[in-house]
Amino acid sequence: MINIENKNIFSKAKVAIIGASGGIGSTISKQVRALDRENIIIEIVRQKSKKSQFEMDMLDEHSVAKCAEEIRNKYGSLDIVLNTTGLLHTKNYSPERTFREINLDYLQEVFQVNTYIPFLVSKYFAPILTKESASIIAFMSARLGSISDNKLGGWYSYRSSKTALNMLIKTLSIELSYSNKNAICVGLHPGTVDTQLSKPFTQKIKNKKVFTKEEAAEYLIKALNNIDHKDTGNIIDWRGEAVPY
Ligand SMILES: NC(=O)c1ccc[n+]([C@@H]2O[C@H](COP(=O)([O-])OP(=O)(O)OC[C@H]3O[C@@H](n4cnc5c(N)ncnc54)[C@H](OP(=O)(O)O)[C@@H]3O)[C@@H](O)[C@H]2O)c1
Repeated sequence: MINIENKNIFSKAKVAIIGASGGIGSTISKQVRALDRENIIIEIVRQKSKKSQFEMDMLDEHSVAKCAEEIRNKYGSLDIVLNTTGLLHTKNYSPERTFREINLDYLQEVFQVNTYIPFLVSKYFAPILTKESASIIAFMSARLGSISDNKLGGWYSYRSSKTALNMLIKTLSIELSYSNKNAICVGLHPGTVDTQLSKPFTQKIKNKKVFTKEEAAEYLIKALNNIDHKDTGNIIDWRGEAVPY
């Protein structure tokens, strides 16, 4: 159970972290666990590295449904669901610098991870959010998905996959406002964070702070602690401020 008036919403909460193997996901998991001895952290990954983790093939609907059902059977409802999966570059492809580099294989892979996984997570994890008290379902988005903030161009697939994710977040927040009034649905922008996802690009970033995973997780936990129902449907950055669509 979480109380959003409380500034440690993770206290005694049942928290599922999808993509808990990633740079940001694993660090949030570690920090949230350290906050409180009474919370339950459920790590969901595509390949287990710890016995306690749940394995889920995130792009297989049957597997997502089965994992959500197993969690419901074991824990009942959830207070917080955090989706931290994401993809920017692959072995063969990097973000496009020009429309000439658009490639359907890369576009498809980026959309599958950044957009399709959140669609399946919405379908199978939103129903297990508790209805008795406040709950949060949050998806890692990115400022690059903002249409009004796009001043630089490029990175066609990644930007578009996050813009589509933002529409999913807004739409899900509207449905939840009828079907589970206690639920808050948000996107999160972590800033630029030194992880495997950003590594090839962070050296080129000048005049911009690159956060460590630990800093990013601290900021995101603080932002989540300050969230309330008026934020539902919004994309919240690491400072707790709304990113324009
Ligand atoms: N880092 C940044 O600067 C930054 C900035 C803005 C937004 N974000 C967003 O923050 C989120 C987390 O990013 P991160 O920096 O922590 O990246 P990361 O360290 O590369 O972690 C990515 C996560 O996504 C999972 N994933 C990748 N491909 C997958 C697939 N095909 N199926 C299932 N899971 C898959 C990874 O699982 P495996 O471990 O199994 O590969 C891992 O758990 C992403 O949504 C990203 O877009 C990051």
